[in-house]
Amino acid sequence: MVQEHTLSIDDLIYPLFVEEGINDVIPISMLPGVHRIPESLLAEEIKALASEGIKAVLLFGIPHFKDATGEISLHPDTLLSRMIRTAKNASPSMVIIADCCFCEYTSHGHCGVLRNNTVDNDLTLALLSKQALAACAAGADIIAPSSMMDGQVRAIRAALDAEGYAAKPIMAYSAKFASAFYGPFRSAVNCELKGDRKTYQMDPANGREAIRELLCDEVEGADILMVKPGLLYLDIITRIRDRTDLPIAAYHVSGEYASIKFAAQAGAIDEQLAVMEVMGAFKRAGAKLIITYFARDIARLYLNAH
Ligand code: PBG
Repeated sequence: MVQEHTLSIDDLIYPLFVEEGINDVIPISMLPGVHRIPESLLAEEIKALASEGIKAVLLFGIPHFKDATGEISLHPDTLLSRMIRTAKNASPSMVIIADCCFCEYTSHGHCGVLRNNTVDNDLTLALLSKQALAACAAGADIIAPSSMMDGQVRAIRAALDAEGYAAKPIMAYSAKFASAFYGPFRSAVNCELKGDRKTYQMDPANGREAIRELLCDEVEGADILMVKPGLLYLDIITRIRDRTDLPIAAYHVSGEYASIKFAAQAGAIDEQLAVMEVMGAFKRAGAKLIITYFARDIARLYLNAH
């Protein structure tokens, strides 16, 4: 009766990895319980998730063809568009969120285009806008720009408004830190990155700068503000909760997921209790939405038990 926060299935977003050119589901060893799905099984997977109560998915493509600029993601007949179209057709009521970035599609693994060996912010903005338009044309319900280019929300908002997608919301990866906790994700998507993303992702020491990034994205037209990694940066969630009226999303990232999974597998902690405690912490901190690889287990096994 007096519990201050409750987790609802409506709060959860489930990330999905869709790989081009494979025929069977491939388990991701660094993310126990998570798989790469072939395009041929995506429709079935989306229907299964809908029947388990999942309301929203975040799609990541794993293409077998990459290039220097990630052009491959812009065309209506390539993986990014195909997977969105397939998912949307499989379950029209499922909220399809398109991660908008280039790291999965570039041969060098950076989130944008390179010039003189560094990521060129403004060149990347034009390409991000094109990718967002391709995702909308394929049927995405929400665009989630994750490349951490300055001005990405403004650029994408302008492009969407100009092309008849004024009603499509933007969930901005606003405060995204250069984190070691993305390791399992990068191996899951075959990211070719050498080096790091410290020229565009944030310094873990910088809380005030994170607030500035979040507030900039609000002014640029974001509809949902995200903090990532969520669990390590709960303080940022709480601080921004007091500064904006927009909904806040927390990304419970791959390394945070893997930490619980492997600790539970070793018998060090109880997985279900740990997962629900972490979800409670996100809600207490002020997150409305939680992107988590545990979403499916929570929907299927845990919500009824609590
Ligand atoms: C980059 C992107 C990353 C994740 C999702 N999109 C991080 C990165 O490689 O820098 C990480 C998600 C996770 O670790 O679960 N566009």
